Amino acid sequence: MSDEGRGQWGSRISFVLAAAGSAVGLGNLWKFPYITGMNGGGAFVLIYLVCILLVGLPIMIGEVLLGRMSRSSVVGTFSKLSDGPTPWSGIGWIGVAAGVVILSYYSVVAGWSLHYVWLAISGGLAEQTPEALGQLFGETYADPAINLRYHTLFMIFTALIVVGGIQKGVERAARVMMPLLLVMLAAMLAYATTLDGFGRAFDFVFGFHTDALTGAGVLEALGHSFFTLSLGMGAMLTYGSYLSRQDDVVAASLATTFLDTLVALMACLVLFPITFSAGMEPAGGPGLVFVNMPIAFSGLPGGQVWAVLFFLLLFFAALTSAISLLEVAAAYFIDERGWSRKKAVAVTATTIFALGIPSALSGGDSPIFGAEIHWIGERNWFDSFDYLASNWMLPLGGLGIAAFAAWRLGDRARHVAFAEGSRLGAIPAIYLAWLQLLRYLVPVAIVLVMLNAIGVLKKLGLGE
Ligand code: PFF
Repeated sequence: MSDEGRGQWGSRISFVLAAAGSAVGLGNLWKFPYITGMNGGGAFVLIYLVCILLVGLPIMIGEVLLGRMSRSSVVGTFSKLSDGPTPWSGIGWIGVAAGVVILSYYSVVAGWSLHYVWLAISGGLAEQTPEALGQLFGETYADPAINLRYHTLFMIFTALIVVGGIQKGVERAARVMMPLLLVMLAAMLAYATTLDGFGRAFDFVFGFHTDALTGAGVLEALGHSFFTLSLGMGAMLTYGSYLSRQDDVVAASLATTFLDTLVALMACLVLFPITFSAGMEPAGGPGLVFVNMPIAFSGLPGGQVWAVLFFLLLFFAALTSAISLLEVAAAYFIDERGWSRKKAVAVTATTIFALGIPSALSGGDSPIFGAEIHWIGERNWFDSFDYLASNWMLPLGGLGIAAFAAWRLGDRARHVAFAEGSRLGAIPAIYLAWLQLLRYLVPVAIVLVMLNAIGVLKKLGLGE
């Protein structure tokens, strides 16, 4: 297929909006606050920020660069840049698989946000006690009918956007939803600063509390930095493949990373003040957003409107991420198999929908997939998928992408591509810093954290 036929972003800002749309999602608004709460706050946040800067950002630049150079899907990229079939393509396969796995359960959580939009509109969240709201989330989590209904709806929305193509689908969605999301979040932050709990929340997020941090927490921070930046599975690579040679890969990656981090920190500074002001504790787990936010809204003048806005925001954030997850798999069939976009989207979305059914049943008492059934460790199906994808598949994919970009790609080609269209990229020190990070620090960090997670370091008397 010709490059023109694949699609291209309509303007420079479109890529940043779409990439930020992919990065900013449930990972920032739902998952980051709750894992921060469970890992004790400050020290976890600091480790996360270090991972973003030293591991995430260099990989982001690498992914976008590979995409722009190959102008193909994540599977095709490696053979195209190697001038023929190569075992490196395995990285692309891990990527497509990770996208399928992630979207299958992501859609279930996104479905909760849709359910809560409906509850907020219909008044179901208004004037409820904290206990009743806690119970409401528990029931939502466990109800197979609700989960299946909204999982289905969310997958339909996602597929309808991706079928529209790059400019008419992905780009248009990001252009509308991303600015809205930022404005809504800023309004909520302004409100949160007026609460009593703001000071305590600020200290919780930025104070240096090491006591609750564990080796598993470090792995979680690293895994989450991949998840939140949409790295390690070719989402950024695929979006990069729709860039033109005049676009600035380095600046666009910086902007995307900055926006994503900003939103994650803002989300914490909205959520924790509300949590503390309401006399609740931050380690609320996956229900944090769905329980604490409605509690806060129920005591606010105009609370119902705030609640509708907030869950709509969560839904928008999830949708712009989900479209990038689906695009990775769809682009493979479009580029490598020559399928029409319609067929590619229909087949991939249906497969992912089916694979998501066990996750939709994970909170209930289904005899095969229910909450009591353990798959990996103590985890139910849903948590096992999340653990496998974010803590293993994405870091492994990231390792492969880093190794390919830093070691396998020819020196000249890489150098030229890095500087093309980019003022920052033309500065030799920036290129060198990026290359050295990808060559040495990134692989060592990923491997050490993985060894620690499987207990190898402990056996050697190192780590915990
Ligand atoms: N970055 C998204 C989030 O933080 O919610 C999730 C995600 C999207 C992960 C796309 C991976 C991906 F390729």
